[in-house]
Amino acid sequence: MASKPDTEGLFLRQDYFGDPSAWSALVDLLQDTFSIDISLQDQFCGPDPSSMPFGYFDETGRCVANFSAFSMPLVINGRLVRAAGYQSGAVRPEWRGRGLYRDLMQRAFARTKAEGFELDILLTDKPALYERYGFRTFPQYVFAGPPPETAGPLPPARRLSLQDPGDLRLLKTLLQNRAPVSRRFAVVGQMEMFHLNACFDPDIRLTLVADTTVVAWKFDGGTLRLLDAAGPAILPLAAISSALDLRSERIEVCFPPDRLDWDRTPAPYQGYTSLMMRGDAADHIDGPIMLSPMAEF
Ligand SMILES: CC(C)(COP(=O)(O)OP(=O)(O)OC[C@H]1O[C@@H](n2cnc3c(N)ncnc32)[C@H](O)[C@@H]1OP(=O)(O)O)[C@@H](O)C(=O)NCCC(=O)NCCS
Repeated sequence: MASKPDTEGLFLRQDYFGDPSAWSALVDLLQDTFSIDISLQDQFCGPDPSSMPFGYFDETGRCVANFSAFSMPLVINGRLVRAAGYQSGAVRPEWRGRGLYRDLMQRAFARTKAEGFELDILLTDKPALYERYGFRTFPQYVFAGPPPETAGPLPPARRLSLQDPGDLRLLKTLLQNRAPVSRRFAVVGQMEMFHLNACFDPDIRLTLVADTTVVAWKFDGGTLRLLDAAGPAILPLAAISSALDLRSERIEVCFPPDRLDWDRTPAPYQGYTSLMMRGDAADHIDGPIMLSPMAEF
């Protein structure tokens, strides 16, 4: 059995996002560890209200270790699955190797188990950390091919700006009312990460297509990368690609394209993180998958 963590001089806090100074201490921990600014969420809808953060703080209020669970409902093979995601896992260098992370992981896993989540999901560059808790790596695939033929009139398209309050309101409405982008494997909601991922990567473009769907995409001059499409119904790829009007030579879809009227051969996706899951629901995945980059967490 693992030894007790060395928590001398530290205070354990759970569900602390309601305390602005504790939230800001987590922002600092993640800025110092990963060079990301999660306080950008304050410009959109704030931190995910389903978050279940577990953290150790020192007597000055500095967050020295954290691991958070959150609710991340998924559709897997057409069924709604109550999944828990795990994120914001970090320990300050001077506090590592004392069992703090193990302690926080065990607390978070016990909490989501007690709350009845049926699947656990995370992304990591250190799969060995989680294999001992029964997580398995699921390979991811992109779906690539020449653009589909365009048929009919071009749907209207308009670029959205994360700096425009009206566009942010529209984005929020579309994400709240979105249909899952795939029946095989997709998030059901997740507004916070969509916005944060769009902020983190300046190459990501957001376009409103047919007045109903926000499309997240990248274009390198030859290949159109379709990252996500959020709206009450999923448009066919032919409508999306013609509305973007990019004259691409190739399209790469970064989620299972089963709702796009476009069937393509999957190619292994080489990301720097592994997608890991545990729970019986993962056994029902039917075919190659990819978690949309806009849902990465
Ligand atoms: C990875 C990290 C969170 C570990 O924190 P820690 O408090 O030193 O970890 P602990 O002392 O609680 O060790 C927990 C277990 O993880 C193992 N472990 C620690 N670092 C590891 C690593 N880089 N890879 C694989 N296993 C690791 C330990 O051996 C220990 O195993 P045990 O439970 O069998 O004894 C910390 O090094 C860190 O913040 N790294 C940078 C950010 C990061 O990578 N976060 C994880 C994102 S998925």
